[in-house]
Amino acid sequence: MGEATAKYCAASGARVFVLDVDATRGQLLEQSVPGVTFVECDVRSDDSVRQAVDRATDAGEALLDGVFANAGVILNDTVESDSLARFDATMDLNVRGVFLTLRHCMPRLKRPGGSVVVTASGAGVVGTANSASYCTSKGAVIALTREVALDYASQGIRVNAVSPGVIDTPQGKRVFAELGDPDELRRETEQVIPLKRLGRPEEVAHVAAFLLSSLSSYMTGAIVAVDGGYTAQ
Ligand SMILES: NC(=O)c1ccc[n+]([C@@H]2O[C@H](COP(=O)([O-])OP(=O)(O)OC[C@H]3O[C@@H](n4cnc5c(N)ncnc54)[C@H](O)[C@@H]3O)[C@@H](O)[C@H]2O)c1
Repeated sequence: MGEATAKYCAASGARVFVLDVDATRGQLLEQSVPGVTFVECDVRSDDSVRQAVDRATDAGEALLDGVFANAGVILNDTVESDSLARFDATMDLNVRGVFLTLRHCMPRLKRPGGSVVVTASGAGVVGTANSASYCTSKGAVIALTREVALDYASQGIRVNAVSPGVIDTPQGKRVFAELGDPDELRRETEQVIPLKRLGRPEEVAHVAAFLLSSLSSYMTGAIVAVDGGYTAQ
């Protein structure tokens, strides 16, 4: 979804900095998409995010129009899982990563006019079985989005979240493969989505780009579902 959003924003004329821990994928994106600059960054590390945001803003000389805090991992577990490693890994990336991204980006946003989009999930809105750590992390991200929206509203910076349902991304495919027969699981999942199909990364990118743009100028603190109607049930 981050890649699709970077491509869409760059094609719309934005200068885009992609911060990602995966240097191979990031460099490929930089080489193939004009307007994209890749900066290697581990969003779980305070120093790494500070340095990456410094690079993207010429050490504070330039201001950001928008930020998309999207990195996150989906791991399956229950509260009885015999290792806490999944909980720690999930919270580290999905919650601490978003917290640190906002911590370093907020001072560098245009005010008034800056816009932040966080990637939440339907799993933070309704329960999703076998996703204890993931649901916990996305619930936290939704709470954080609303809190930061209030802190920055008076400065003219808006903060919203996209809340995707099941989206056909590399990570989505990995989760299906881990849980059983991926084709069968996909068919079963499609049946419980009102629009009867998975979402495409571009469909989330379009909503993220709308929230980043001034077209959404009266929206802040909103959690916007992009889930084919799943959480409307
Ligand atoms: N795919 C879905 O069905 C779905 C549904 C709801 C929400 N989401 C959320 O959408 C977001 C994007 O997921 P996706 O499905 O596009 O996955 P993806 O694997 O395609 O993209 C995730 C990106 O995060 C990067 N990343 C991982 N660890 C990082 C770190 N420590 N620092 C910086 N970058 C790091 C990865 O390299 C990757 O490029 C996540 O927050 C995920 O929880 C996904």
